[in-house]
Amino acid sequence: VVITVSVVGATGFAGAVLTDLLSRHPGVRIDALTSASYAGLTVANVFPNLRVDAVYQPYDCDRLASTDIAFVCYPHAESFPVVAELVDAGMKVIDLSADFRLKDPDLYPEWYGFEHTREDLVAEAVYGLPELYREEIACARLVANPGCYPTSMLLGFLPLTGRFRLSGVIVDSKSGVSGAGRKASDKTHFCSVHDDFRAYAEVGHRHTAEMVQELSLAAGEPVPISFTPHLLPVDRGILSTLYCRLTDASGLTVLPSANELRELYEAYYQDEPFVEVVSAVPALSEVQETNFCRMAVRVDAAAGMVKVVSVIDNLVKGASGQAVQNMNIMCGFDERLGVEGRA
Ligand SMILES: NC(=O)c1ccc[n+]([C@@H]2O[C@H](COP(=O)([O-])OP(=O)(O)OC[C@H]3O[C@@H](n4cnc5c(N)ncnc54)[C@H](OP(=O)(O)O)[C@@H]3O)[C@@H](O)[C@H]2O)c1
Repeated sequence: VVITVSVVGATGFAGAVLTDLLSRHPGVRIDALTSASYAGLTVANVFPNLRVDAVYQPYDCDRLASTDIAFVCYPHAESFPVVAELVDAGMKVIDLSADFRLKDPDLYPEWYGFEHTREDLVAEAVYGLPELYREEIACARLVANPGCYPTSMLLGFLPLTGRFRLSGVIVDSKSGVSGAGRKASDKTHFCSVHDDFRAYAEVGHRHTAEMVQELSLAAGEPVPISFTPHLLPVDRGILSTLYCRLTDASGLTVLPSANELRELYEAYYQDEPFVEVVSAVPALSEVQETNFCRMAVRVDAAAGMVKVVSVIDNLVKGASGQAVQNMNIMCGFDERLGVEGRA
């Protein structure tokens, strides 16, 4: 089977990785790569490292009409009108922005500073974390591809939900600079980041709302989360150290043994193609340019806490690789097709 795909906003960091992955995917043909800033230039003009024979064209919904699946890689608030136009025109869409991740439309002004005018599509969109929503993704018209930090957090905590009640949840994440997009700012400029390390948005980072929504849904009750992101002087990758306390249904503290915890995680992820539970705490280099999430679990008996260290590549499992994984599910392809190798 060959399907046609288009990437809208193909010249950003996520769009470039997606272009590369799709160009090497045996089940797809690229229909269009859109860009406002680089229209008329070839992919090689803009990204000499990509061996993709195509010319960027301005976005025009009518010219994408023959596309089976469109990926939208715009910044939040820019994305939703384009996503809506494409869905209305009959295409299946995978949106890499945050514009359809939150289920309550009233949260968009508070967390993202814009009023959502497509509540119907907010209600319809499926949150694109395959490990949680594989069946829903398979028949979705619109997939809201998860955020990078939420992916690293959710995969780390999911095996605990349903078994235990989680409290005192702390998400301490470190990200490479590509998470901030291709355009440098004062804060992400090489000279600001190189040989230094800092926290940012230490209370109320936008991804907190998405994390709380999805962890609470999985847990079946509201789970407050304290999230602190940090900016690492590296290009790609997120390392999240996750902490929580566990109780049983009646509120009594429980602490599994190290073996029990490890077995729980291994059993939970035994059939997952892209989640690896390992013994030694993982480093970013183990997952950079791959679609894998690798994690190690620990019981900190003295503190009465469980700790998980998870790593992903923010541009692959945190964005474009996960988007291709979702496309594979939507099209009935093997989920690993085109995302098993390096990205
Ligand atoms: N970077 C990550 O690690 C990551 C991870 C998960 C999700 N995401 C999400 O994926 C989306 C794309 O992220 P990215 O990192 O690839 O961003 P980026 O590097 O800043 O690229 C965004 C692209 O969107 C296009 N665009 C259209 N309207 C724009 C506007 N008003 N301002 C700026 N760009 C505009 C631009 O292309 P033209 O000007 O050529 O049209 C640009 O290349 C974002 O919503 C982001 O939150 C990113």
